[in-house]
Amino acid sequence: DWTMAAYRREMIDKIRRQVGDGKVICGLSGGVDSAVAAVLIHEAIGEQLTCVFVDHGLMRAGEAEQVVGLFRDHYNIPLVHVDAADLFLGALAGVSDPETKRKTIGKLFIEVFEAEAKKVGGAEFLAQGTLYPDVIESVSFSGGPSVTIKSHHNVGGLPERMHMALVEPLRELFKDEVRALGRELGLPEAFVGRHPFPGPGLAIRVPGDITRDKLDILRKADTIYLDEIRKAGLYDKIWQAFAVLLPVRTVGVMGDYRTYDHVCALRAVTSVDGMTADFFPFDMGFLGRAATRIINEVNGINRVVYDVTSKPPGTIEWE
Ligand code: XMP
Repeated sequence: DWTMAAYRREMIDKIRRQVGDGKVICGLSGGVDSAVAAVLIHEAIGEQLTCVFVDHGLMRAGEAEQVVGLFRDHYNIPLVHVDAADLFLGALAGVSDPETKRKTIGKLFIEVFEAEAKKVGGAEFLAQGTLYPDVIESVSFSGGPSVTIKSHHNVGGLPERMHMALVEPLRELFKDEVRALGRELGLPEAFVGRHPFPGPGLAIRVPGDITRDKLDILRKADTIYLDEIRKAGLYDKIWQAFAVLLPVRTVGVMGDYRTYDHVCALRAVTSVDGMTADFFPFDMGFLGRAATRIINEVNGINRVVYDVTSKPPGTIEWE
């Protein structure tokens, strides 16, 4: 009889056998997968684990603080928090092509992570929250050729470069199983039930070039949207929901004034694994409330639209 409690014990044994008394470094992304991997490994080998959180400045509001709070303060897991926002935003200045954004972020991420891992010193193992679907590298549509749609940024190539062996305790699991394991490990529900968040973060939710101003505007809109979704009791019915700040400005009217501000697109989809997705059928009352709040509370946005594209033919993210 296969249960998560049994899987947890089995994995802890396996990690101990693999690692011995060696040191392990685990990159945290702020997402569920790396968090579950880190807590499981910490349970297995304790202080032999150091976590590294590279903050690229493209996280949602309050997210970096949550990661630090959970790992350093709650779990007492040694955590290196690298604030690399200036570095990443500097390198991204003027970059508007989606794949160039991903490559720029991926390359910098590896450089920063590698430098921090060296500082920890003597680690032979690199832990990753790789899931079973990540092991299948390309996306294949039924009947069509196997094609890679977007180059997902991860730490691929890093272990060989750093001569490190991989520790991947989630390799056999699907997302819902990782969540079950997270609950089994006592991770807070707010963390375990989180929607997936892409490695390049908000960079791919600001189509066109990225500025700090745009990121600030997007963070405010995104926070309000998710707040309304939680209040409506819909968060757990949705696979991913987020706001996108469009590089288009349109005319509006506010009191006696004409405004000329950004358009914000709202996205919400249901999905099992992210490979295909349907747009979420909000009722118009909900959309109206979210739009009104965003326009009233966020300076820089004067129009809100809802994306009714499913995948395929669309993708979940806009870039
Ligand atoms: P798309 O947009 O390809 O997204 O339909 C499918 C799932 O993958 C996430 N995504 C990414 N995750 N790096 C990641 O780690 C990326 O570059 C990336 N691009 C998309 C997306 O959020 C969705 O869950």
